[in-house]
Amino acid sequence: MKPCLINTSDLNKDDLELIFAKAKYFKENYKYGEKFNDLKNITVAIAFFEPSTRTKLSFDLAAKRLSADILHFASAGSSITKGESLVDTIRTIDDMNVQMYIVRSAFSGVPQIIKNKTDRIVINAGDGKHEHPTQAILDAFTLSEYYGKIAGLNICIVGDIIHSRVARSNIFVMQTLGANVKLVAPGTLLPRHINPWNLEIIDSIDDAINWADALIVLRLQRERMESGILPSIAEFAKFYQITFEKFIQKDKIALMHPGPVNYGIELDYRISSMPNCLIDKQVTNGVFTRMAILSLLAQNLG
Ligand code: NCD
Repeated sequence: MKPCLINTSDLNKDDLELIFAKAKYFKENYKYGEKFNDLKNITVAIAFFEPSTRTKLSFDLAAKRLSADILHFASAGSSITKGESLVDTIRTIDDMNVQMYIVRSAFSGVPQIIKNKTDRIVINAGDGKHEHPTQAILDAFTLSEYYGKIAGLNICIVGDIIHSRVARSNIFVMQTLGANVKLVAPGTLLPRHINPWNLEIIDSIDDAINWADALIVLRLQRERMESGILPSIAEFAKFYQITFEKFIQKDKIALMHPGPVNYGIELDYRISSMPNCLIDKQVTNGVFTRMAILSLLAQNLG
């Protein structure tokens, strides 16, 4: 594996399979209250410049279960609010002998900038509308557990594609593993220049459910929504919500969502308790896949 994880294109099929094997090992061997030593004497800075629940807690727990020393850094409450630049901030943290940065930012490219400014390991935990590699890895791990494979599966990504770093990363990871990927979304929620990935667009949710083995449903990202992009949220829900009635028409079809979910908009709440809804498993597997990624990257520290 390359020494940093900024883009999903940093990973090939062998890297992904290595991560899955390691995640499986951690999942099978982790005992509550016990720790692995993979990150012993390694200091990890968790630098989240944007709100997060799952990703932040999951990285925090993963690093703790590997015995890392952990620094939490957020712009609020730091000298960034006094005008210190990001680069000076990173230089300061570097001087404290941090070996790994886990970075979340509302701006695309920030993890790459940090990588350019430091010789430490940098992991992208989600940057703007660009990429969220570890989410796609945990999604692929979860789906491969459910189906026993990824190659040959039909995967449809649903909803707010244009604002979604999760979609971008999943398209790359799922295709690298041999899946067929298609999209379903209103035209205004697809990338303007259709379509950078050459993916087929499915016309309706019914057709998507009919075709797919798995749906990756995205949150409607209202905080990134320019005005006028949708007639109304209700209109979106009417045509693009995965309703209970539509979902139960097909046995076994897997449903994933990175969270947080807007129930009643992109997803019917009743689906959340169905056995083929994998949202809870995604959260559980998020910790084990991130343990695997941290452990494998730490091997680059020698
Ligand atoms: C996603 C994110 O923040 O990119 N969530 C996550 O990391 N679990 C998706 C989202 O915010 O909609």
